[in-house]
Amino acid sequence: MKVIEAKNYADLSRKAANIISAQVILKPDAVLGLATGSTPVGTYKQLIEWYNKGDIDFSLTKTINLDEYVGLTPDNEQSYRYFMNHNLFDHINIDKKNTNVPNGTAPDMEAECLRYDALIKSLGGIDLQLLGIGHNGHIGFNEPGQAFEKTTHIVTLGESTIEANARFFGSKDEVPKQAITMGIKSIMQAKKLLLIANGRDKEDIVNKALYGAVTPAIPASILQIHPDLTVIYCYE
Ligand code: PGA
Repeated sequence: MKVIEAKNYADLSRKAANIISAQVILKPDAVLGLATGSTPVGTYKQLIEWYNKGDIDFSLTKTINLDEYVGLTPDNEQSYRYFMNHNLFDHINIDKKNTNVPNGTAPDMEAECLRYDALIKSLGGIDLQLLGIGHNGHIGFNEPGQAFEKTTHIVTLGESTIEANARFFGSKDEVPKQAITMGIKSIMQAKKLLLIANGRDKEDIVNKALYGAVTPAIPASILQIHPDLTVIYCYE
């Protein structure tokens, strides 16, 4: 595990974007596992800036996102598909056909989970997975207490996640109660993991996850045993 302290959020974003762009330069058809939330926004901005300068070419790159809310269509501004288009895909030369977010409105969500797992497999696995971390230690929408061996599945969101995400919605009641998420097993199978955490409020959970016991009570704690984990944090 490599742990890097960033000077501030801009520095964290640049460092994370450097690692992602190195991956794309070394392997132009890389499969990038991407994440939503407020933490990666700066990383995506930095990638867009370097793309505009001509430093990165995403024409062959494929992406696969961690999760999506159940019930939100791609044109819903709170959906993670909308987030990805708006914060990254619309601004770089990626082929949208090569971008993947779980379908939160699939008629059969169990079938959608199986489709997503098969998709990850057919892409040859994930080269580099970007991760945020929730205050309760969730990664993707893998909430505390779930089995580590899960692949893509449907989750009922925990109270702390609903509260944290209410800021993006009009009110807490509007936050969907369920999500579809890549499981811990799928995440752990990625060749490289990059966890980013920003803000004083993340310090406690990051320390527990990285240096405490490996337990399903803190889903991110399993990352300790991944052979290629990089963590970049800033607690300013
Ligand atoms: P945040 O979310 O980046 O908005 O803090 C992280 C997460 O919940 O995974």
